[in-house]
Amino acid sequence: MTALKNDRFLRALLKQPVDVTPVWMMRQAGRYLPEYRASRAQAGDFMSLCMNPAFACEVTLQPLDRYPQLDAAILFSDILTIPDAMGQGLYFETGEGPRFKKVVSTLADIEALPIPDPQKDLGYVMDAVSTIRRELNGRVPLIGFSGSPWTLATYMVEGGSSKDFRKTKAMLYDNPQAMHLLLDKLAQSVTSYLNGQIKAGAQAVQIFDTWGGNLSAAAYQEFSLAYMKKIVSGLIREHEGRKVPVILFTKNGGLWLESIAEAGADALGLDWTCDLGNARARVGDKVALQGNMDPTVLYAKPEAIRSEVGRILASYGKGSGHVFNLGHGITPEVDPEHAGAFLRAVHELSAQYHE
Ligand code: CP3
Repeated sequence: MTALKNDRFLRALLKQPVDVTPVWMMRQAGRYLPEYRASRAQAGDFMSLCMNPAFACEVTLQPLDRYPQLDAAILFSDILTIPDAMGQGLYFETGEGPRFKKVVSTLADIEALPIPDPQKDLGYVMDAVSTIRRELNGRVPLIGFSGSPWTLATYMVEGGSSKDFRKTKAMLYDNPQAMHLLLDKLAQSVTSYLNGQIKAGAQAVQIFDTWGGNLSAAAYQEFSLAYMKKIVSGLIREHEGRKVPVILFTKNGGLWLESIAEAGADALGLDWTCDLGNARARVGDKVALQGNMDPTVLYAKPEAIRSEVGRILASYGKGSGHVFNLGHGITPEVDPEHAGAFLRAVHELSAQYHE
């Protein structure tokens, strides 16, 4: 394997010294980029991009070719590949988000769900990872990812996106045993899926717990964090002679950072509702932090973006352990020039915080 030419992302996740603060953006390959929209039109639709390793590789590399400041690549795929491999029948209605042909409603539905085999059932993702690693040729590390069991469960039980998680919450309180069985099957599936990605070449992994912050404090511990902990304890933590850092991102999890920091991950992703300096004080030396600029700041002019980057860097302060990111994914309406201004500002303004 080729040696990494830029490893500041992996170093910062392990709190090792860096020259400048590393940066990447959640959803960095996506609809705000005209080159992405052209590839999607050529492939036909979003899932065809995900399922064809050459296309997945092409769109993964597009933001890196446009922005030399990016310190990491993230596999182009989706969190809903797992429920699809469990037989739920994922499809995307244009402008309507994800949908499933089958919905999980009863204990019998859950008992019937298989645990997907990463090579046999999700081989297209494993092939995308190895293709991207080869094409990156050591430029920057490659991030693999999965959804958290709770977040995946919401899509499987609702049959798609939801505003209030009515069916999922009802199942949680009416039939906690059924919900636990579903989450346990998902935790097993996510563990082997992420280990498959690591074996195929992912150099760090992130778990997206997009909807964990929608739970009560007690339910979060029992139905989301406990399963992420289980996954973390089953992951391959060293590969190709290097540590494979694990990042947990619970959106709206700011109230629970102390307990998330105990889950065994190397880093926590933060949304923009937390103060970064305060979060650093709360988690201490346990974990690195990733985030946390409000993605809508990218609608403002480059000078305003730069000043917000400066404020966030100052809030973290001196030393390693911070990976700059947005607090959630970049949105389709963002001007690509503004994303460029954001990335440049992170490197230019952060050198003063590192020795
Ligand atoms: O970060 C990256 O660039 C890697 C690719 C990535 C995608 N989805 C591509 C995508 C990642 C990491 C995801 C994760 C994901 N997918 C999450 C968790 C993170 C988050 O943003 O909260 C969730 C909840 C999903 C499920 C999902 N996929 C939804 C709800 C949607 C529709 C909403 C939307 O943004 O359109 C998708 C589609 C999707 N996943 C797109 C992309 C680029 C847009 C599809 C298109 O091109 O039309």
